[in-house]
Amino acid sequence: MYDLAIIGAGPGGYEAAAYAAKLGRKVVLFEKAALGGTCLNVGCIPTKTLLRSARALSDCREAGQYGVTTASPSLDMKAVQARKRQVVSTLGKGVAAMLKGAGVEVVQAEARLAGRGAVEAAGSRIEARNILVATGSVPAAPPIPGLRESKAVVDSTGILECEEIPASLVIIGAGVIGLEFACFFAELGTAVTMVEMLDRIAPVLDEEIAKRLQSEMKKKKVSIQLSCKVTRIDGGTVHYTDASGQAQQVAGTLVLNATGRQPVTRGVGLEDVGVVVERRGIRVDASGRTNVPGVWACGDCTGRLLLAHSATREGMVAVNSMFGKPDRMRFSAVPSVIYTHPEVAQVGATEAELKQQGTAYRKVVLPMAIAGRFLVEEAGRSGTVKVLVSERHGQVLGVHMIGGCCGEFIAAAAAMVELELCVDDVREIVFPHPTVSEALREGVLHAF
Ligand code: NAI
Repeated sequence: MYDLAIIGAGPGGYEAAAYAAKLGRKVVLFEKAALGGTCLNVGCIPTKTLLRSARALSDCREAGQYGVTTASPSLDMKAVQARKRQVVSTLGKGVAAMLKGAGVEVVQAEARLAGRGAVEAAGSRIEARNILVATGSVPAAPPIPGLRESKAVVDSTGILECEEIPASLVIIGAGVIGLEFACFFAELGTAVTMVEMLDRIAPVLDEEIAKRLQSEMKKKKVSIQLSCKVTRIDGGTVHYTDASGQAQQVAGTLVLNATGRQPVTRGVGLEDVGVVVERRGIRVDASGRTNVPGVWACGDCTGRLLLAHSATREGMVAVNSMFGKPDRMRFSAVPSVIYTHPEVAQVGATEAELKQQGTAYRKVVLPMAIAGRFLVEEAGRSGTVKVLVSERHGQVLGVHMIGGCCGEFIAAAAAMVELELCVDDVREIVFPHPTVSEALREGVLHAF
């Protein structure tokens, strides 16, 4: 009898497995594909590796600003892909070693719930006091005629295998995935067009920061078509109705479907044991408990926040809760980063959310260049820090940034939001100088 059986070895499942094993629990982890899940194999890590190569190319092109001369730089896509595979392989081995070190039993097989307290995989059945479902998500395919049939259409997994730079790319959906790939390919010289049904890009972002990101994408010559409804796809041609109701079309060597992801909830036996699955994913409470005693879920399959680091924390919360240590997930303090160039990072409430809640707030918007290091590191580039604090106590409610390496210090802002710090508390925190993070400090301190 195991204390815990986990289905899915992504950042939700494998981190929870290692954590529970280190607490002395007997843990078995099932994975049908490669350890590391979407994030490591076909998501965060490979995408960021590609983006790093594009940044190296841009840095070479802009090196003149730093007094460095480079002869016409170019990018070898095959070498870029080889590096991507190397990084993924190294990290995959790291996950395997970490699980082994923690004492987790790993079973490489597809698993499903087989009645209360039981899991079936590769013809065997095991029993466990607790089962954590961490099956992740897959790219969604909206019912657009031609989307599934056209060979020119790829999803975020397919496009990662691109061995040649496409002359043109049409991206359906200007969300996180669409924007990161738009940035990558535009920097490589591909003509990129984005077709988005909403009247703005990146609906998860604070609107002011989203507008700044939109103008940065325009600087890269990415064409962004908003309020457009895709009607059909014919080969590489995307037909759509524009904001004024006119029929339009745009053709690409490749078409990327980046319209969202859907939770993996089928084929896991959830319905057999009576676990409630809603449209967005498995229904869980703040501790990751499903409606069936002993069955827990974390990460993308719950459809709450589709972020690797959220899945990891959700998994830990579930482990703590199942073994008697009360814990709960606070989604309001989960930071997120979009790894475009420049990158975007945010945590906490957006201005629109505060307005909707009727919360009185103060807003500070500062150029990142207020921090000397930004001018040193980011010649000719711009960056912005936006801070939202409560009018009543000066509590930090939201931080939204675009520019430089803001994803590297959003964790400081996340700590402020999670710990409910006020402006006077932040005044006592020493930020290293010179770093771009000082722009965050200035943003908070300017509020009062
Ligand atoms: P998303 O939800 O961020 O964006 C999808 C976009 O497609 C939306 O703007 C939506 O309005 C648009 N759309 C949907 N149907 C459409 C249609 N028929 N025609 C035109 N536009 C349409 O989803 P995305 O970008 O696919 O990412 C999936 C998930 O993965 C997100 O939850 C995201 O947070 C996560 N992710 C996070 C990353 C990060 O943290 N850096 C990187 C990549 C993905």
